[in-house]
Amino acid sequence: MKTLLVLASFLLLAAALPTPKSFLHGAQVFRVVPKTEGQIHYLSGLIKSDHYDFWTEPRAIGKPVDIMAKAFHIPQLKSTLLKLGLKYEILVSNVAQQVEALHMANEKARAKGTKAMDWTSYHTYDEITEWLDSLATDYPSLCTVEDVGTSYEGRTMKLLKLGTGPATNPGIFIDGGIHAREWISPATVTYIINEFVQNSDTYADILAGVNFYIMPSINPDGYAYTWSNDRLWRKTRSETGTPGCRGADPNRNWGFHWMEAGASSNPCSDIFAGSVEFSEVEMQNVRDQILKYQDTLVAYLTFHSYSQLWMYPWGYTTDLPSDWQELDSLAQDAVSALTGVHGTSYDIGSSTNILYAAAGGSDDWAKGVGNVKYSYTIELRDTGFWGFQLPPEQIIPTGEETFEALKVVANFFLTPR
Ligand code: ARG
Ligand code: ZN
Repeated sequence: MKTLLVLASFLLLAAALPTPKSFLHGAQVFRVVPKTEGQIHYLSGLIKSDHYDFWTEPRAIGKPVDIMAKAFHIPQLKSTLLKLGLKYEILVSNVAQQVEALHMANEKARAKGTKAMDWTSYHTYDEITEWLDSLATDYPSLCTVEDVGTSYEGRTMKLLKLGTGPATNPGIFIDGGIHAREWISPATVTYIINEFVQNSDTYADILAGVNFYIMPSINPDGYAYTWSNDRLWRKTRSETGTPGCRGADPNRNWGFHWMEAGASSNPCSDIFAGSVEFSEVEMQNVRDQILKYQDTLVAYLTFHSYSQLWMYPWGYTTDLPSDWQELDSLAQDAVSALTGVHGTSYDIGSSTNILYAAAGGSDDWAKGVGNVKYSYTIELRDTGFWGFQLPPEQIIPTGEETFEALKVVANFFLTPR
């Protein structure tokens, strides 16, 4: 009888507490393929509303747009799409279940893993950070790790310097995880670091000829929140002044043509640009590191997911930088090496031309203000079958192919000896 009472009160308690994922129950992802510029324009306007979550942005005629709607907003989305004359396909019929499936797969892989850090499962912010520290201890001749600031919620942000040559060597700055839910990004950036440190003899030329400045997870609070509360969180976690609406889109927050296109001033929007440029302390921290190494930096690479795109500036305008052909040509070489590994195909172009204009991105700032010539935003796997819930088995293949692309970029800057 006593056990029954305990059980009953437990069940009551469990029912009363909202489960962290409950708000995803009934959420679905709709895929539409725009056929006119008008439809693209209308869809881009919809991003600014806070009703829908665009998993991929409108790009061009014939390119799919994936829109998540919570249960409550589904009827409205359907009628909007109908009015627009857009047929939809249900890409994910049960988002909560997809999130749960990835969670289970990741927990299973983590349980099997024998090391604190590996690439058979996704890792938490603290695991990544501790691993970075361990590298500095284990490979002192290859890398150093520095604390470069604190996040809004007080997490330490770290930068790893990798290279055996002088500080004057050409520098490549790499970051990951700017958008919290894009888990494959920090996983791939850490894969790259690991590949270099484990095989430093093989890559001796690269390590002697260029320096890497790497920050694998530049939105720590957002990333932690995707582990604890909402797997699909994109933004930072700062208070906005609007109750119930936290965070700014860190990739709309950079101070170059800030708020000029594809960004929102509504704190509840997923593309909220922040109250002012560089309102987000995490982006200030990354900016300051880029400025610190600015004189040597030749390339800036920022990893996102998903869509399989290799993009260069500008993102705020349809205009192209005057040297776009050089950026395009290196991107072509990098992507052909990438595709050579597992056959994964990528689209290449300026971000405005393959996506819709969006100002305040780190790539535009790195080139426009930071003066880093080869600035790229890379959208990793996949094209939407798994989307943000990319299974852990794909971390290694994604790492392998991306590493080949990075080698092409690094070799391009090797000073001829
Ligand atoms: N999906 C990325 C984002 O929305 C693409 C960024 C491309 N760069 C840009 N400056 N718009 O942040
Ligand atoms: Zn992103």
